[in-house]
Amino acid sequence: MRVIVADNYEKLSALAAAEFAAAVGANPRATVMPATGNTPMGMYQELAKLRENDGTDFTGLTVFQLDAYRDIGRDDFRSLYGWMMRSFVEPLGIPEQAVVRLAGDAIDPELECASFEQRVHEAGGIDITILGLGPNGHLGFNEPPSLPDAPTRRVPLTPESLVSNSVYWGGEEQVPTEALTAGMTILLAAKQVLLVVSGESKQGILARTLDGPIAPGNPASYLQQLPNVIVFADRAAWGDRALP
Ligand code: GLP
Repeated sequence: MRVIVADNYEKLSALAAAEFAAAVGANPRATVMPATGNTPMGMYQELAKLRENDGTDFTGLTVFQLDAYRDIGRDDFRSLYGWMMRSFVEPLGIPEQAVVRLAGDAIDPELECASFEQRVHEAGGIDITILGLGPNGHLGFNEPPSLPDAPTRRVPLTPESLVSNSVYWGGEEQVPTEALTAGMTILLAAKQVLLVVSGESKQGILARTLDGPIAPGNPASYLQQLPNVIVFADRAAWGDRALP
């Protein structure tokens, strides 16, 4: 695990985008799994600029959806598929056919999760994941407690996640109470993990993720064991500790 502390959110976004663009340059047909949430949005805007200004080509990527609210269709304003399409897939010019959706509204969620895992497996796993850090240590919607071998599955959201996700949708009552999430096995097996963490509110969970016990109570703590993880934090999230 490598940690990069940027002076501010703009620099974090630019550094993370440069890292991702370099990885895509080395493997233009990579499979990627990009988080939604607020933190990577600056990074995605930087990627779009790299595409426009430097001609970086993202069109060969295959995109796998990280997580989805249960029973939310792709056109619902709360759909994480829609958010991923608007913020990542479309600005980077990736064709819609190259997107593997995790259908939160599938009639049979267990079957949906199994066939999603199969698609990931057939693609040879995920080359690059872009993850945010949940305030309770969740990755995607791998809520605590999550074991490192947790598969893609249906999960009830924790009260903490219902509160933290309400900021996206204008009220806690808007937040669906269940989700589907790519499993910990998929995330931890990714060839490269970019974790983006911003803001003072993430100081405690970031410190625990980097230095705390490796345990199901903080799913992100399992990243400590992996060599291929880069954590991009801004100063606000890093706090007053000595720089790495
Ligand atoms: C959400 C999502 C995650 C996201 C995380 C952090 O609940 N399920 O995929 O990475 O929480 O979000 P943010 O970056 O807005 O803090």
